[in-house]
Amino acid sequence: MTLKPHLKFEQLNIWYGTHHALKDVNAEVPAQGITAIIGPSGCGKTTLLKSINRLLEETEGIRVEGKALLNGANIYDKDVDVTELRTRVGLLASKPFPLPMSIYDNVAYGPRLSGQRNGNLPQIVERNLKAAGLWEEVSDRLKTPASRLSTGQQQRLCLARALAVEPEILLCDEPTSALDPISAQHIEVQLQSIKEKMTIVVVTHLLRQARRLADHVIFMWLGELVESGPASQIFNSPRDERTRAYISGDIG
Ligand SMILES: Nc1ncnc2c1ncn2[C@@H]1O[C@H](COP(=O)(O)OP(=O)(O)OP(=O)(O)O)[C@@H](O)[C@H]1O
Ligand SMILES: [Mg+2]
Repeated sequence: MTLKPHLKFEQLNIWYGTHHALKDVNAEVPAQGITAIIGPSGCGKTTLLKSINRLLEETEGIRVEGKALLNGANIYDKDVDVTELRTRVGLLASKPFPLPMSIYDNVAYGPRLSGQRNGNLPQIVERNLKAAGLWEEVSDRLKTPASRLSTGQQQRLCLARALAVEPEILLCDEPTSALDPISAQHIEVQLQSIKEKMTIVVVTHLLRQARRLADHVIFMWLGELVESGPASQIFNSPRDERTRAYISGDIG
């Protein structure tokens, strides 16, 4: 049995230049299930999410202090191999960005890079297109350009591509915000169906989506983590007045 990842933030602080975007964030993300990061626009949700795969380092003027621990190891340690880290931590962005190649090659891309033999690729492609709920719609046209798919299909393709490298953690930043309601529902259903196998962290500004999806919730406010805990506790009996006001729709 593989060890389930366990993600923990310890006194995480992030600045963009002089702007203090994350302030002393301490939180744990359970190894299984879906954790939703919620809060008003600009409160630091994307910043917290991207701290998990060190994508922020490409931002000019960024400064990170504190720790983000994956299975107990700080991903900000100097000797961490960032390329390897990013194969363990997948990302589904808000807009689908299929690679300019066929449906098949989009899914095979990561496994090829990590040295999978060509003979294994057809099964890998099929398995992950099924996991993303796209197989039945595309199995007869795998060699056609991914750009011909609808936006909703492209997002499921991006999910298949992310899953194909077998990440331990899947990060999703507003993964349905560019999609129609039916396509959004497809993505939600697929995330639910894979959540026992990996840690999923979803940023969403949709409270109803958070209620549908989340097992665990992190509520952010102006760069601070206000409270986190089981979804039922956060939604039904929040401890902090700001959480109560946000989830009741009074603010945000
Ligand atoms: N590259 C950047 N340079 C300067 N400031 C930034 C940068 N990226 C984000 N910020 C600022 O950091 C704060 C947190 O931004 P972040 O994108 O994490 O918020 P968010 O909660 O994801 O918001 P939204 O819901 O609008 O996506 C905001 O005040 C934002 O303006
Ligand atoms: Mg954001």
